[in-house]
Amino acid sequence: MQGEMQKMLSGNIDRNERGHLTFAGHDTVALAEQYGTPLYLMDETRLRENCRLYRDAFRRCFGENAQVLYASKAAAFRQIYRIMAEEGMGVDTVSAGEIRTALSAGFPAEQIYFHGNCKTDADIRCAVENRIGCFVVDNVEELLALNAEAGKAGIRQKILLRVTPGIDPHTYAAVNTGCVDSKFGAAIETGQAMEFVREALAQPNLELRGLHCHVGSQVFGEDVYLRTIDIMVPFLAEIREKLGCTLPELNLGGGYGVRYTADDEQIDIPARIAEVAAHLKAKSAELDFPLPRFLMEPGRSIVADAGMTLYTVGTVKRIPGYKNYVAIDGGMGDNPRFALYESRYTVYHAENREEPETAFDLVGRYCESGDIVQPAVSLPDSIRRGDIVAVCTTGAYNYSMASNYNRIPRPPVVMLTPEGSYIAVRRETLDDLTALDL
Ligand code: LLP
Repeated sequence: MQGEMQKMLSGNIDRNERGHLTFAGHDTVALAEQYGTPLYLMDETRLRENCRLYRDAFRRCFGENAQVLYASKAAAFRQIYRIMAEEGMGVDTVSAGEIRTALSAGFPAEQIYFHGNCKTDADIRCAVENRIGCFVVDNVEELLALNAEAGKAGIRQKILLRVTPGIDPHTYAAVNTGCVDSKFGAAIETGQAMEFVREALAQPNLELRGLHCHVGSQVFGEDVYLRTIDIMVPFLAEIREKLGCTLPELNLGGGYGVRYTADDEQIDIPARIAEVAAHLKAKSAELDFPLPRFLMEPGRSIVADAGMTLYTVGTVKRIPGYKNYVAIDGGMGDNPRFALYESRYTVYHAENREEPETAFDLVGRYCESGDIVQPAVSLPDSIRRGDIVAVCTTGAYNYSMASNYNRIPRPPVVMLTPEGSYIAVRRETLDDLTALDL
């Protein structure tokens, strides 16, 4: 890195007097030494600040009649659920595993929302038995199975219904979910969503609270949520007209994009929420529909920039006339996002070498050529075995998507606070890897 002059990607990244990269004020070279690599770091202060950005904006715009849910698929482990509880967030979960993790951390069951397009009977039973707050029901099969399970438990389960508004948020295909042909939810356009609502209202053990939609992830377009409101509020009004039922809740899902590289925009989340609130109020007033209790469920924008991953360089390979590689002690097992989506990342050398840089493909140690963390990154020409490199903005969808491919243990998660650091998830051992083998 050509030094101090360079503006770092995010305010929690800097260099200290020794030229070492710092994250949340901690020296990354020292952290790598203390905890080993590969190492997931999480800036607890930033994590809490991100929650408060949403919570404060929601309070300002809606008073108490709104709730932010953290989409815990972005990063799910006990300590994060504890922090979410402390910050007054609800959580969005998608499996019995996430629910169990949340509950075992003491997260309040009534603040848990349960999503998923293909919940199993076991998932449904687990969630009902634990009296989670709300199911986001995806389809009629689930509706009927849940009604039966709630009946057995003698409860009336609160639900939202997932519908697809037919909005294309212009993000990447794997995370584009609001279109009519999505595997998630019932389409408004085809009339299936209206039938879904009718079915839901007929279930004696379910209390239909409202609608849910989620149009996509890593969304930057300013008008995406406004256009979604323009479909959802008229649909709520149509339900009132056709079925005589005024649904009191609207959940617009997650999705605000984050800054992975200097080319990405920094979204002003409070400003965006103010626009969404103003639009929702205007649209509701226009249709004389009571302002719904408003929910959103951000994941990435809560945790992404609170994360960083440290690696140790293992090999440097130069192929004259072709390309150069830096191979590290992690890769697609702890961060599959380039392999899956060609996601961009910013990479820094942990020491500040004032020297020319060369373009290297940063690759992992996994046995396939697609194991690329990031192609063509600029790193000091003299980079060598034992050096530490940092990949930024890895807080979302890294730890939670990690695998044991090649039987490589997953890294620990270390939380950073102004006072120090502590382990939230310990490093997997070789014994852990064989723990399930009979
Ligand atoms: N709500 C629902 C129903 C969702 O499906 C998602 C993400 C969210 C909320 C949170 O969206 P966010 O605020 O994080 O954009 N593995 C992919 C991302 C998959 C997103 C799935 N759903 C990635 O690494 O980019």
